[in-house]
Parts: sequence; C-alpha cells; structure tokens
Amino acid sequence: MAEALGFDIYGTLVDPLDMDEHLGEMVGEEAARFSALWREKQIEYTWRRGLMREYADFGVCTRQALDFAALSFGLELSGEQRERLVEEYQNLRPFPDVLPGLGRLRSEGHTLVAFSNGVERTARELLRRGGVLDHLEDVVSVDDRGTFKPDPEVYRHLARRLGRPVEETWLVSSNGWDVIGAKSAGLRAAWVRRNPETIYDPWGIEPDLVAEDLEQLAGRL
Ligand code: LAC
Repeated sequence: MAEALGFDIYGTLVDPLDMDEHLGEMVGEEAARFSALWREKQIEYTWRRGLMREYADFGVCTRQALDFAALSFGLELSGEQRERLVEEYQNLRPFPDVLPGLGRLRSEGHTLVAFSNGVERTARELLRRGGVLDHLEDVVSVDDRGTFKPDPEVYRHLARRLGRPVEETWLVSSNGWDVIGAKSAGLRAAWVRRNPETIYDPWGIEPDLVAEDLEQLAGRL
C-alpha cells in the first residue's frame, strides 16, 4: 500500500552534530561536546516553551541554545561569529542514505513530506541546498500550530496536511522522543536508529518499525 510519511529533519535527514566542523576554530577539541550541548539545549528549549505556552520559533530556540552553549564554554561569540554559525546551520548536509532512500520510497509511490520543528522557509532552504527538497511533496512545520513536537496537535496537523487519518500517517524519525510522541498521538512511526548505541526510552510505547537508515527503511515498508 502507498503510505504517507512525514520525515523529521534534524537528526533524521541532516546531522546537526556536523556543526562541530565549524566550531573547531572557536573551541578546538571541545567542538563535539559544544555541538552536542547546543543540540540538547535547542530541544530542551522547544519542550519548555511548549509546556509554558510561550512559543518562539525554532530559529529563536536555536540561537538561544547557541548562546547558552557559548556561555557554558566561557566563549564570547562576536555577532559575526554567531551569524556565521547560524548560517552554517542552513548548510547541514543530508546523511548519505537520504537521497537514495527517499528516491526509492518515492519511486514506489509513497507520499513523502518533511515534518519539522523548523520554520517552513528555513527548512525548505536547508533541504534545497542539500538536494533533498526535490524528493519531497511538501514541507510541514509545527510553526503553523505555534507549538512544538511532541504536542499531539502537531502530529494531528501532519496527518491533516497529508489528508490521511492519524492511524494511516507515518512519522519517520531518529529521535526516540519524537517517535513516542507520534505513537502516543495515534500515528504509525518508524524509528531510524542511526547509531546502534542509542537507547530507546523504556516507556513501553514502541515504534512500528526500526531501521538503521532510510535505505533499509525503504526495503521494509
Ligand atoms: C525536527 C527536530 C526535532 O526536525 O529534529 O523537528
């Protein structure tokens, strides 16, 4: 059956931890730790803003998380350095399996969209630069709903945009908490376990499918 699939962007289609390449000249050997803290705080800020109902878009969360990470590392970023890092965030490359995996899924007749916390315009530009946009029918952003994953409303929004009932809508994500959010809202979900050491939250809310990458996913759907 032709399925309708919403792909998480950060961590699933592109790797936000690649930012460590650009952090090297500022923080040297600490680049990987800096980049991990930046990502961790970015996600924490979305959760907190969602709970507080104080929405500010993903770009704001990303910048504020960068500022937090810089403060934590005792780094004074100039305005120019900060803007350069935020600009590089728009250049994150797709994982190597993404284009072949999406190509195969598309040729098999599935409907593919991106589904992200990212603001639509920013997400489109990132995906265009990485050559991913052409494989997708649309880009669905939580920004339309003024809240973040894993609010059940954003997963219902994805299903509405795909024109399918929630139980016939798939989320594909490498983020376990995103998978659990989608399952809890009644969707189907595939967990992309890019790193075999990643631990899935033991909540008893399991994905319908687990794959190492998008090529393997294409073979399993
Ligand atoms: C996204 C983040 C959560 O793309 O990875 O929605």
